[in-house]
Amino acid sequence: MITIKSAKEIVKMQKAGEIVAFAHRAVADAICIGISTEELDRIAYNAIISKGAQPSFLNYNGYPSSICASINDVVIHGIPSNTIVLKERDIVSIDIGAYYDGYHSDRAVTHGVGTISETAKLLIQTAENAFYAGIDNAREGQRISDISAAIQRYVERKGFSVVKDFVGHGIGTALHEKPDVPNFVSPGKGLRLYRGMTIAVEPMINVGRSNVRISKDGWTVTTIDGSLSAHYEHSIAITGAEPLLLTVER
Ligand code: MF3
Ligand code: CO
Repeated sequence: MITIKSAKEIVKMQKAGEIVAFAHRAVADAICIGISTEELDRIAYNAIISKGAQPSFLNYNGYPSSICASINDVVIHGIPSNTIVLKERDIVSIDIGAYYDGYHSDRAVTHGVGTISETAKLLIQTAENAFYAGIDNAREGQRISDISAAIQRYVERKGFSVVKDFVGHGIGTALHEKPDVPNFVSPGKGLRLYRGMTIAVEPMINVGRSNVRISKDGWTVTTIDGSLSAHYEHSIAITGAEPLLLTVER
């Protein structure tokens, strides 16, 4: 079911989103060579709890942590660990969700650690730019597939690929709601956007091929060819005009 949120509900989602953005800032400030992803997880957990919210991912379908920290060829759902330590030239995608006053918000961003390659820089920038190319189409009357097409077109023009096995999603009282928000065009016309829809738009893009696999831990998603992957996500609301970014500090 696709839920349309009232103005009051959107305000609540903005509050949850603000907490996600606050936790992201705390993690971004802590990222350095030598820190473990478990330490980053703890920083995010504390930031979320300090605002009276709950980490959306913790215990979600048995997920063991508050954040996902996905390094290099890990696309998404990297599980934080005290044995996984950031090193020079890594790229790390941090994904955080928070639940506050009945609503979830979800955001991801990829960081470079120390000096990174030109390709890595371009990949990270392309994920971000693809998100904005996508939400340029997140207007009432347009279709989900317009967002998807714009993201895919932008990424492929840069010579990178979009991941097809995982997609963006509706968000609200549940972390994952209908509709799916793919980063690629699929057959069929696609659903129309209405004001009050809230969705997480999240390009996941690879330097090499789009194929991915899930590791034996049941969560960690990696590229099959071992190439670098980047992720960029905001939760947004469809309005009567420009889309509203929910996962920002205000
Ligand atoms: N941001 C991710 C998503 O959109 C969160 C997945 S981690 C999970 O699906 F544990 F919550 F699944
Ligand atoms: Co998401």
